[in-house]
Amino acid sequence: MASSPAPVLITGASQRIGLYCAERLLSEGQPVIISYRSERPGVERLKALGAITVQADFSSQESVLSFIAQLKDRTDSLRAIVHNASEWLAETEGHEGDVFTRLINVHMLAPYLINLHCAGLLQRSETADIIHIGDDVTRKGSHKHIAYCASKAGMDNLTLSFAARFAPHIKVNGIAPALLMFQPDDDAAYRARTLAKSALGIEPGPEVIYQSVRYLLDNPYVTGTTLTVNGGRHVK
Ligand SMILES: NC(=O)c1ccc[n+]([C@@H]2O[C@H](COP(=O)([O-])OP(=O)(O)OC[C@H]3O[C@@H](n4cnc5c(N)ncnc54)[C@H](OP(=O)(O)O)[C@@H]3O)[C@@H](O)[C@H]2O)c1
Repeated sequence: MASSPAPVLITGASQRIGLYCAERLLSEGQPVIISYRSERPGVERLKALGAITVQADFSSQESVLSFIAQLKDRTDSLRAIVHNASEWLAETEGHEGDVFTRLINVHMLAPYLINLHCAGLLQRSETADIIHIGDDVTRKGSHKHIAYCASKAGMDNLTLSFAARFAPHIKVNGIAPALLMFQPDDDAAYRARTLAKSALGIEPGPEVIYQSVRYLLDNPYVTGTTLTVNGGRHVK
């Protein structure tokens, strides 16, 4: 009897992009493990669809290591790791260092430790991928989200080093999206301004990230790259 395929780990999959990608993979028969921080309806939905769910907060080294230990209790192999968990924090007066440390932990330390400690799980899958979900904003920097942008840029750099270190068995790539989905409380003026930044001028939704993940999982000749999914912001 054929054994079931190794699961894909998606971090921060309780809502929006991560949740959507998890549901799409499950609907194709691909087992999924997710990390989530907050109890949300999406977590229950994924459990009902058969996903393994592990609660984790990536804001400290201790909690990342505890997550890795729990993950290893739940599986002995992984088909892929999709680093999606993210916080979009701005600088806060008087708390700059805390914000910076937190974002470095979530966007860099967590992927760094998970990649190093879970490489063995990926090695047990016939094909294996790591995908870092970054942000197109790293192309130009950000005057309002400096630490966010720097920590996502650091994550882009992890793509290069891990692609070299883990080749040829594990491909390591990034995805750099610009606007995918507005937040419910984004007002009309903000929406119009943001849409006007790209050549294509649309709010594409989560499917474009699922398509990008699918492409990277399926393509055997791409590693060490970051796929720009920005509606042509750079040509406008
Ligand atoms: N949405 C966009 O337009 C857009 C644009 C550019 C880039 N991106 C990137 O695309 C990815 C998905 O975006 P999204 O809009 O779906 O993000 P989102 O709605 O903010 O969700 C991010 C997830 O990360 C988890 N998370 C946050 N802080 C965490 C922590 N300290 N430890 C563990 N998990 C934590 C959250 O968990 P809980 O909800 O469980 O607390 C949440 O489910 C992110 O990497 C984001 O940077 C998105």
